[in-house]
Amino acid sequence: MRCNFYILISMTYVILSSHVMAQRGSIFEAVSGFIRDSQRVLNGELPDSEEILPDYDFIIIGAGTAGCVLANRLTEVEDFKVLLIEAGGSEQMFMDIPVLTTMLQFTDANWNYRTEPQESGCIGMRAGRCAWPRGRVVGGSSVLHSMMHTRGNWRDYDRWAGNGNPGWDYKSVLRYFKKSENMQIPKLAKNKKFHSTSGEMTLQYPSWRTPLSKAFLQAGIETGGKVIDYNAENQIGYSIIQFTMNNGTRMSANRAFLYPIRDRKNLHIAKNALVTRILIDPWTKRAYGVKFNKDGKKYVISARREVILSAGAINSPQILMISGIGPKEHLTENNITTIVDLPVGYNLQDHWALGGLTFTINSTDSIRSERVATLENIIEYFSYHTGPLSAPSGTEAIAFFDTKNPHSDDGYPDLELLFVAGSLVSQPTYKEAFSIDNNVYDKVYGPIKNKDTWMVFPMLLLPESKGRIKLKNKNPHHKPLIYANYFSDEGHDQKVILKGIRKAIELSKTKAFQKYNSKLHDIPLPNCARHGFNSDKYWYCAMKTITNTIYHHCCTNKMGPNKDPEAVVDPRLRVYGIQGLRVVDASIMPHVPAAHTNAPTMMISEKAADMIKEDWGIPIY
Ligand SMILES: Cc1cc2nc3c(=O)[nH]c(=O)nc-3n(C[C@H](O)[C@H](O)[C@H](O)COP(=O)(O)OP(=O)(O)OC[C@H]3O[C@@H](n4cnc5c(N)ncnc54)[C@H](O)[C@@H]3O)c2cc1C
Ligand SMILES: *[C@@H]1O[C@H](CO)[C@@H](O)[C@H](O)[C@H]1NC(C)=O
Ligand SMILES: *[C@@H]1O[C@H](CO)[C@@H](O)[C@H](O)[C@H]1NC(C)=O
Ligand SMILES: *[C@@H]1O[C@H](CO)[C@@H](O)[C@H](O)[C@H]1NC(C)=O
Repeated sequence: MRCNFYILISMTYVILSSHVMAQRGSIFEAVSGFIRDSQRVLNGELPDSEEILPDYDFIIIGAGTAGCVLANRLTEVEDFKVLLIEAGGSEQMFMDIPVLTTMLQFTDANWNYRTEPQESGCIGMRAGRCAWPRGRVVGGSSVLHSMMHTRGNWRDYDRWAGNGNPGWDYKSVLRYFKKSENMQIPKLAKNKKFHSTSGEMTLQYPSWRTPLSKAFLQAGIETGGKVIDYNAENQIGYSIIQFTMNNGTRMSANRAFLYPIRDRKNLHIAKNALVTRILIDPWTKRAYGVKFNKDGKKYVISARREVILSAGAINSPQILMISGIGPKEHLTENNITTIVDLPVGYNLQDHWALGGLTFTINSTDSIRSERVATLENIIEYFSYHTGPLSAPSGTEAIAFFDTKNPHSDDGYPDLELLFVAGSLVSQPTYKEAFSIDNNVYDKVYGPIKNKDTWMVFPMLLLPESKGRIKLKNKNPHHKPLIYANYFSDEGHDQKVILKGIRKAIELSKTKAFQKYNSKLHDIPLPNCARHGFNSDKYWYCAMKTITNTIYHHCCTNKMGPNKDPEAVVDPRLRVYGIQGLRVVDASIMPHVPAAHTNAPTMMISEKAADMIKEDWGIPIY
């Protein structure tokens, strides 16, 4: 009944505004577009395997960014029988719609983690805990992520190699960045040294964006910056964001790497299957299989060649520790017998920013959810995949700075400004997604809740603070404990973010932004007001109050040479002291690169696939 009522209203609306529809699609086109989209997903998604064999050559734990790339590359070898195990379910059609990105965090495709309360971060969040979403779905965090594609700086990888990890220098890994790439931005694709058009992952600019993104680039030029392709020679400068999108839809790792190999007979996938343990022979120290639960049934499956752990930077250390690989003292505390004593879970790194740095404007050019979620826009989206629904809700432009070397064009960026054509007040979902305390939110943002705004995340790229993942207990169904330890360093991290805040304010004063009468929103956070709004001390307090993760959790199973006391895996990603077990995901990064971590994780997995093939005598192309 209710449904029919809505259809009736919708039809009336469509007929009344048919003059607009004539240009932007019609209800008929939208319905056939919707069917086309559903079919694409239905025909693309790998079905849950009906049969699970007692053994496979390789078992991959986790179908996230790394797991999907790896499953694709390993099953190129017909002799390799692979089982991919994923705790979450299928990727759904609505997950492809860019504007819904933040909304996906409220579905069961999110592990929904929270950090433990700490003194110097997340103070303004509910119960002092920051929300750390992670993908629990085929495609992993690449289904929840904001689709920004950045590789980082050459020094990131030269630093990995310099620390004793041969083969990870920029010159060597560039070919793996290019291998997965299908650059569809014609101007950038011409630069063949850095870009490729033959990979699986399409990169595009969204067809729709607000004029504020142009203002951001112009403001950059006005203040002495320049516009660059940050995925080429140098990173320092301003740019529209390159997104992992295809024709107005999300390209998750699942869509890019699993859809095309749906018919491969040597790949099985088990969905909604939670790995509870890696099986390791305590005498030979060989990983010989995994245990998992699926649909109320327990499975024990063997790996003839290798078990590969790709469960991400939070779950991979948890699974290792539950399986007896980790810091001995901590395992003993939890009644786990240690098989190898390794610093699993340490070295946790992330990128974070001051959240809620807001500027109000005098026009209606920013994103506001009530203007986006209109029937017209929905019809346009399903007809042509264009319009505001095809854009990742306001995240439009980016800039990189080297605060230590501000005048060098080839600097090593330690600061990013992420420009959003909206703010905490433009979408009701943001407050929930970041888990901002209601009192704080109402006091500071309530008075501007109906305004047009833009926002910048001043984000730290090379943090010195480090956190840790610990077990709550040995139950694999319980969430591990996350100690983010934001701002626990000697003061470096807060100073970089402060420079970002000052830079964002400088940009707001340019002609480009004054055209919109941009004004820094100046209601102080209640707990910081005593420092005086806009003083350095005020901002230090603010960034510890609205501390926003940019979701680049990594580095908890550090790659390093044998002599590195912090290392968990060797430069070929094999777990020290164990045979037949590798970790391939964002957890192996020794340091977080000056990049959003999805592209670097794909690169890691591409390279890992070649190393695995090499180790099993398969020729590499
Ligand atoms: C909200 C959000 C926004 C982001 N935005 C960006 C962005 O714009 N650009 C960017 O570059 N990066 C972004 N990132 C980061 C990026 O998505 C990750 O760095 C990347 O996806 C990490 O890949 P991974 O393979 O290490 O882990 P994941 O992709 O998280 O994959 C791990 C997989 O393992 C599965 N798993 C875990 N435990 C088990 C178990 N016990 N049994 C079975 N399966 C298990 C999980 O369900 C998951 O599917 C974002 C992340 C989030 C969460
Ligand atoms: C460890 O085992 C002992 C003895 O069985 C028990 O008393 C204790 O509660 C257990 N500790 C944990 C953390 O599970
Ligand atoms: C993009 O999607 C729209 C809507 O489904 C479709 O009409 C169009 O043909 C697609 N374009 C390309 C290049 O695939
Ligand atoms: C916004 O303010 C600027 C600067 O004061 C002014 O030039 C512009 O006309 C205003 N725009 C609107 C839509 O009021």
